[in-house]
Amino acid sequence: MTAPLKAVDPITVDVALGERAYDIVIGRGVLASLGERIAALRPGVRTAIVTDRTVATHWLEPAEAALAQAGIPTTRIVVEEGEGSKTYAGLAKVSEALIAARIERNDLVIALGGGVVGDLAGFAAAILRRGVDFVQVPTSLLAQVDSSVGGKTGINSPQGKNLLGAFHQPVLVIADTAVLDTLSPRQFRAGYAEVAKYGLLGDAGFFTWLEANHADIVKGGPAREHAVATSCRAKAAIVARDERETGDRALLNLGHTFGHALEAATGFSDRLFHGEGVAVGMVLAAQFSAELGMLPASDVERVVHHLAAAGLPTHLQDIAGFAQEGIGDADSLMALMAQDKKVKRGKLTFVLLEAIGRAVIARDVDPSRVRDFLQAKLQRRA
Ligand SMILES: NC(=O)c1ccc[n+]([C@@H]2O[C@H](COP(=O)([O-])OP(=O)(O)OC[C@H]3O[C@@H](n4cnc5c(N)ncnc54)[C@H](O)[C@@H]3O)[C@@H](O)[C@H]2O)c1
Ligand SMILES: [Zn+2]
Repeated sequence: MTAPLKAVDPITVDVALGERAYDIVIGRGVLASLGERIAALRPGVRTAIVTDRTVATHWLEPAEAALAQAGIPTTRIVVEEGEGSKTYAGLAKVSEALIAARIERNDLVIALGGGVVGDLAGFAAAILRRGVDFVQVPTSLLAQVDSSVGGKTGINSPQGKNLLGAFHQPVLVIADTAVLDTLSPRQFRAGYAEVAKYGLLGDAGFFTWLEANHADIVKGGPAREHAVATSCRAKAAIVARDERETGDRALLNLGHTFGHALEAATGFSDRLFHGEGVAVGMVLAAQFSAELGMLPASDVERVVHHLAAAGLPTHLQDIAGFAQEGIGDADSLMALMAQDKKVKRGKLTFVLLEAIGRAVIARDVDPSRVRDFLQAKLQRRA
């Protein structure tokens, strides 16, 4: 009889935040260990799983089965998928359901889903009874490498994205790389932009590795676990240095000042997913860095080439509907950037590149220079 192939051991990344420290457990199949890990952390706990409709069809039953196996009672709270749930109404629905499920101070909320569910359930946990702990089970690539780590939770206001929220760190993150198999290819690619971001902002070796291995990450080979773990380590290290974003944590915004403006200019619609906006934004940040004489043109080319190879948009003209609906002019994009919460007293803060693997925070960028740069990019022929 042949022995079954030994499953590769999960990778654990520690988020070193003193008494708020927690583990991120990464591996193919780790969802099955959700119950035993929670039981070890919180014997006798009750739980409620918050998820969205799409994720529920694929992964709610396996998650519930894992809890049942460890004898952990749970309730399900299912919201509509998409950004429309990260609202006052979505928060009311989840909060009332948590109260009805009698989730108390020592119980746990489990966020099973992408960044929307993580932000929403995390925020509901932060305010329920003045704070109940929560576990992140991120199911999108973006959530596994970015939103589930670092403790930012919240909802949108009709006046802007993520304007209401709290820092609330999870007590455990379970990132099962197999759940990404059911993610749409476009969502997967969008999440990949954040993976590439970690290479660009601080790890040239990782970026080079991604150039060679990105196909295996998509296919779901062992490169996927390595990519998720390396990304989580990078984010965890930055968050541990600067939990509340008073300094270095801003490096994580590489590509995001431009990207957010593009998302807003396309109405946060399906024209441009967040990660796609970040991809175009990282190219713009690289090009702008080159224009300021900080980054060699050959590095800009490498950034464009890799993101395009990963199937991501890299230029403004690649944004869906650019020819028909456009994305506004340079002034309207500047106005959108000025609304970003990263703006402090009118000064634009940009994350720029000095090299692949070396990003810097530029706090005092001349807005007229950015405007002229965008104007030229908008005129580029597709
Ligand atoms: N808290 C943070 O630090 C942080 C960081 C980055 C982004 N965010 C937030 O995250 C959100 C974006 O996250 P997202 O891209 O994961 O969006 P999302 O949660 O809307 O998920 C994208 C889509 O994929 C589906 N999906 C998720 N996992 C799936 C799976 N395994 N199989 C099939 N379908 C699946 C969802 O139902 C949804 O339709 C935004 O609201 C953004 O503001 C937060
Ligand atoms: Zn992002």
